[in-house]
Amino acid sequence: MQKKSAIIRFHGVEVKYGEVQALRGVNLEIPGGKVTVIIGPSGCGKSTMIRTVNRMVEPTKGTVEYQGVDVKQLGKIELRRQMGYAIQNVGLIPHLTVEENIMLVPRLLGWPEERKKKRAHELFELIGLDPKEYGNKYPSELSGGEAQRVGVARALGADPPVLLFDEPFGAVDPLKREELQGEFVRIQRRLKKTVLFITHDLSEAIRLADYMVIMKDGLVVQADTPQRLLKEPANDFVEQFLGADRTLQRLTLLTADRIAKPLRIEGEGLVGASGILWRPLADGDILAVYKGDSGEFLSRLVQVNIHVARPYASLKECVSKFLALGLPAIPLVDDSGEVTAEVLFDDIQRITKEG
Ligand SMILES: Nc1ncnc2c1ncn2[C@@H]1O[C@H](COP(=O)(O)OP(=O)(O)OP(=O)(O)O)[C@@H](O)[C@H]1O
Ligand SMILES: [Mg+2]
Repeated sequence: MQKKSAIIRFHGVEVKYGEVQALRGVNLEIPGGKVTVIIGPSGCGKSTMIRTVNRMVEPTKGTVEYQGVDVKQLGKIELRRQMGYAIQNVGLIPHLTVEENIMLVPRLLGWPEERKKKRAHELFELIGLDPKEYGNKYPSELSGGEAQRVGVARALGADPPVLLFDEPFGAVDPLKREELQGEFVRIQRRLKKTVLFITHDLSEAIRLADYMVIMKDGLVVQADTPQRLLKEPANDFVEQFLGADRTLQRLTLLTADRIAKPLRIEGEGLVGASGILWRPLADGDILAVYKGDSGEFLSRLVQVNIHVARPYASLKECVSKFLALGLPAIPLVDDSGEVTAEVLFDDIQRITKEG
């Protein structure tokens, strides 16, 4: 059955590199405006599959369609204009500055100066790097995580509707990686691109995916929403691949905004089900005022960079924030820095028990 919303379709796609059969007949439909994550063991054909979409690799057999047209009929340049591409080692051009790297495609497209300036500004804002500090740096002056953000910005450069991401966060350490994933979710909820995202990391897959594709030996084994995959793995391979620790995965899947509870204004602060009064301070930190065991008032400083939940933080991240703060709730702070709700430890515990 054809999905109406599918924007990319693979029909019996085979790819051979000499003797090696990298893809052995892939049939798949990629929903538009959603994040499709491709996961599977090394060498199963993930990179090959997304490279057939922008024609960096041509199928030996079968077809790939973009918006109902065989990509073979679309010029490579036209195709790549529609599709941003970011890879694990970023591939930034070393002798160009960060800004020049980000504006590579718009420059190739001959955008007027004014439009390029505006776009560069938007992109820096989007990836959370200060253009004054970073614009004139060279790639060798960036940390791994910063370079990957720039790589992502470059893929977004000319605002293409499709993004092909081949392990774009692969070179980042786990903590930074969770942060980048959070940013990616935030950006994606705003931009609603069609994203094909490859990863080796199952929690990354579960966190980012609207739709998840599991591959093995050049074939798609199962493609479904992460919820359904976790509930109904198609076979032993998928079951094994998803692993035993479902609880941890559910905590990865859910974001703080999904379980946060509302607050009401009280005096100079906000209070909710936890009974803790959250009092925002001028510098962005928050004072938590609560009753001790013998009824006395105690307070604790909630540091915005350490203890608060952002709306798209995974519950797994929230758990470590609870541990750091040592209170039964943490405040939720939105993108504009406002305390909007609180996340209760009890709610997270209930979810782990349901698991
Ligand atoms: N240019 C090439 N020439 C020859 N063989 C290739 C080439 N590119 C990939 N292969 C082979 O094709 C198969 C699929 O490779 P591909 O890079 O698509 O896998 P992958 O799933 O992306 O793996 P990884 O997770 O390690 O990145 C592998 O056996 C690989 O060795
Ligand atoms: Mg690969």
